[in-house]
Amino acid sequence: MRKKIVAGNWKMNCTLPEGKKLASEVIHMVEDRVQNDAQVILIPPFIHLTGIYSLIGSVSNIYLGAQNCHQEREGAFTGEVSASMLVSAGASYVILGHSERREYFGETDELLAEKVKFVLDNNLTPIFCCGEKLETREAGDHENLVGQQVATALFELSEDEIKNVVIAYEPVWAIGTGKTASAEQAQEMHAFIRKQIAAKYSQEVAESISILYGGSVKPENAKEIFDQPDVDGGLIGGASLKSKDFVDIVKAFD
Ligand code: PGA
Repeated sequence: MRKKIVAGNWKMNCTLPEGKKLASEVIHMVEDRVQNDAQVILIPPFIHLTGIYSLIGSVSNIYLGAQNCHQEREGAFTGEVSASMLVSAGASYVILGHSERREYFGETDELLAEKVKFVLDNNLTPIFCCGEKLETREAGDHENLVGQQVATALFELSEDEIKNVVIAYEPVWAIGTGKTASAEQAQEMHAFIRKQIAAKYSQEVAESISILYGGSVKPENAKEIFDQPDVDGGLIGGASLKSKDFVDIVKAFD
């Protein structure tokens, strides 16, 4: 069975006190009110990782993630953070290739292939993001583009390695815009990605990989999207900054 996952990407938001308050509220509500077995991942800025980890403690089903990671083990890379540092701070997951990293920091699929391999070697689970811009969708080229992103960044991995990757499909035109892909558009792309994986590896591998949808997921639309057969959860930006909204999204699996 594939893991169901709801991950909250805080991006560059929250001071430490604000982040601790938000995390405490989420942890409390998840413990008290969530009936399902979805994994909840809190993904704060690097500097808050240890602080938030100490709040999560041993609460089952809540994990810590980071928003990025460097592709080298260590060294003279001022301002960067390594995979082993993330693990030592309590992280189990790391987002790689978020569209904001691609757009503002020039990350390419070739670089992401290196990062994905490296974090897997360091026992972190990558949440690999892919997704097309509006003009690509309007040109009808979205499957080609996403297929290429996935193939370039992931298809050098072995079967055992790719089974440990989580994929997040995030159409760029839906991120932070309030425009959500329809449940049908999400399902169509998720099924396409799974088909590509089945063709390259096997049906069994494809069936084992969780594929999350991201882009303006809210309590009001989460259930319809998560109900799609190839959607295994969500990567949540804006709505993860409000504890009740975020937990209501997790409850969409109840
Ligand atoms: P959003 O962001 O939920 O604010 O659209 C999603 C994301 O960037 O992961």
